[in-house]
Amino acid sequence: MDTSSARERYEQLKQEIHFHNHRYHVLDAPLISDAEFDRLMAELKRIEAEHPDWVSPDSPSQRAGAAPSEKFEKVRHPRPILSLANAFGADDARAWYERIRKLDDRVEKAAFVVEPKIDGLSVVLHYRDGVFVQGATRGDGEIGEDITANLRTVKAIPLKIPVNQGLGNQNSRMSELPLFASATPTPNHPIPNYLVVRGEVFIPIKEFEALNQKLEEAGEKTYLNPRNTAAGSLRQLDPAITAARPLTLLVYQVVHFEGGNVPASQWELLDWLRGLGFPVTDVARRFTDLESAIAYTETWDSRRDELPYEADGMVIKLDDLRLAKDLGYVGKDPRGAVAFKFPAREVTTKLNAIGVAVGRTGVLTPYAVLEPVEIGGVVVERATLHNFDYIAEKDIRVGDRVLVKRAGEVIPYVIGPVPEVRTGAEQPYRPPATCPACGQPVEHFEGEVAWYCVNAACPAQLVRNVEHFVSKGAMDISGLGIRIVEKLIEAGLVGDVADIFLLRREDILEAVTKKDRKTDKEPPGKIADNLLAAIAASKNQPLPRLLTALGVRGVGEVSARELAAAFGSLDALASASAEQLQMVEGIGPNIAAAIVDWFGREQNRKVLEKLKHAGVWPVEQGNGKSRKEEGALAGMNFVVTGTLPTLTREGVKEFIESHGGKVTDTVSRKTSYLVLGEAPGSKLQKAQALGVKVIGEEELRKLVGESATHFS
Ligand code: IVH
Repeated sequence: MDTSSARERYEQLKQEIHFHNHRYHVLDAPLISDAEFDRLMAELKRIEAEHPDWVSPDSPSQRAGAAPSEKFEKVRHPRPILSLANAFGADDARAWYERIRKLDDRVEKAAFVVEPKIDGLSVVLHYRDGVFVQGATRGDGEIGEDITANLRTVKAIPLKIPVNQGLGNQNSRMSELPLFASATPTPNHPIPNYLVVRGEVFIPIKEFEALNQKLEEAGEKTYLNPRNTAAGSLRQLDPAITAARPLTLLVYQVVHFEGGNVPASQWELLDWLRGLGFPVTDVARRFTDLESAIAYTETWDSRRDELPYEADGMVIKLDDLRLAKDLGYVGKDPRGAVAFKFPAREVTTKLNAIGVAVGRTGVLTPYAVLEPVEIGGVVVERATLHNFDYIAEKDIRVGDRVLVKRAGEVIPYVIGPVPEVRTGAEQPYRPPATCPACGQPVEHFEGEVAWYCVNAACPAQLVRNVEHFVSKGAMDISGLGIRIVEKLIEAGLVGDVADIFLLRREDILEAVTKKDRKTDKEPPGKIADNLLAAIAASKNQPLPRLLTALGVRGVGEVSARELAAAFGSLDALASASAEQLQMVEGIGPNIAAAIVDWFGREQNRKVLEKLKHAGVWPVEQGNGKSRKEEGALAGMNFVVTGTLPTLTREGVKEFIESHGGKVTDTVSRKTSYLVLGEAPGSKLQKAQALGVKVIGEEELRKLVGESATHFS
């Protein structure tokens, strides 16, 4: 490639990657697979390696680039970064309205915008000529800290936004992308060439829980709550640490702009920001009177668990931003908006006892047994105590009054004791010396906070192991619920995960009939048949899923995929050394050691032998990406609609991709096949109209030369 076409390709790649990044991280609607995205990224990095002088701060490669710094520089904000006055309930909100109505007649006819008040960290983002050049914390509102390198790693933050064609940067063609269409500049509304926006960085609740689960399984300290974790992540001196945390953001304000115009209504502003590529809440609504705004706010008090992040209230804002500005502020609180706080979901109750749960990997986790108490409409009887160190650090004693918090869908947790009301009868807590499930001595490993039950035959661990083995992201055997598992273990029919494949119809019938059948709508025979079919179908699960299912400490879905691609079979993986394992992306010394340890254990080797014997032994053909390109479905595009007989949505995608095919969402002329299941959507009509071939799961399997005998 000559230099000028390489340059052209480079610019095109940057745009394409930004576009797909936005689809994935902001709109939650990816158009290409992760593998395709990785390919684009690899090509970009190849060009940058050859032309280091082309690399600009807006390149997608610069998200995790910077080296750790000694400390953060101070940044003076272009305008004060204000706070908000609080309203606790509807009357407070009405009083706010009355105050500002007296100050300005225009308030009488004013409209309001209601937005969620996200419990995260305020950040200030600067864009010059469409390029993200600086990001800062709020600090004291006048001066913040420069955390640009860390914010670059937050994928929801656009590194580039549109500029005015002909007015600003000539190089940019971002506004050609349909996604930015609503922000296409017009002579009347040029996009400012210096734009400073404000938003809230946070960790979504689901991501927070997954992060904690991973830490718990690795025997490391878990985090207390999403907000503190987000705050700590942003203030890391090493951006690589920030990059590893699931941070995201929502933008809601323009702090400052030069050389252009921005909408003067909050409602239009949100839309305009969205059009520029910023992530913006979709929960916001506009109202022409205060009472409707209050009513909407109150509906979210009871629905706050539906929000994917923690919100401590809603913000009611004047829609007219000029009016809001004219009203000025009191101290640090603008008069034009008010934070309508939800009642705090923190209460005190008595800690009756401390229980200990045994996890899949044998980690012992203490939990609080509480005097039942209502928090935000839910009766709470159990709360997590994180780990034994936490109990000691907070000096939590059995019998204490404790402060308990329930936020979003996060599992309730004990914040700490209320020592002022102690009677002297409270008992300090000592962690157990033996496993509460099997009675074997517990162990502690150097450098970890967790205590483990290392007895491989511990029944509590076995239940959790089987639960994990059959779960959706692993072998995906539906119908093997916890109660059936417990019964099968109790009856001695399941002693390890491989025994699942030896189950006979009568074994299952026995377990099914023994359990409480009040909730079952189906006859036991049907339940047994369905379960047997699901077990049989799961034998065809690809290697990454089996590897995930085995539950090796630190090996989740992502690293299982990498390991499967690198080693191809469990035999090869079992004989790999720690050094070889560490050559695989995402595998550090700890996980490598855990893998070697797992495959070295007699008990696990037996399980592997049994799996092999039962025909559960997937092997990956070839390595990594080349494998995909060479698969039987290479070069073909698939769209899936409706429910398939045996494959789940995820499963069919995996199946097609593992044979080199591509799966997209929309039917077009480029679609090779529409894979049709039961109850299809409108895609079928579109496929028929375009003359796209329609096939079922059975034919799909035939395309790759697989017979389809296991489902009829
Ligand atoms: S508006 C003049 N909108 O809440 C603008 N703030 O307790 C003042 N916050 O410091 C802020 N979500 O960090 C606004 N949709 C939202 C918000 C929001 C969260 C935070 C913000 C502010 C704090 C005030």
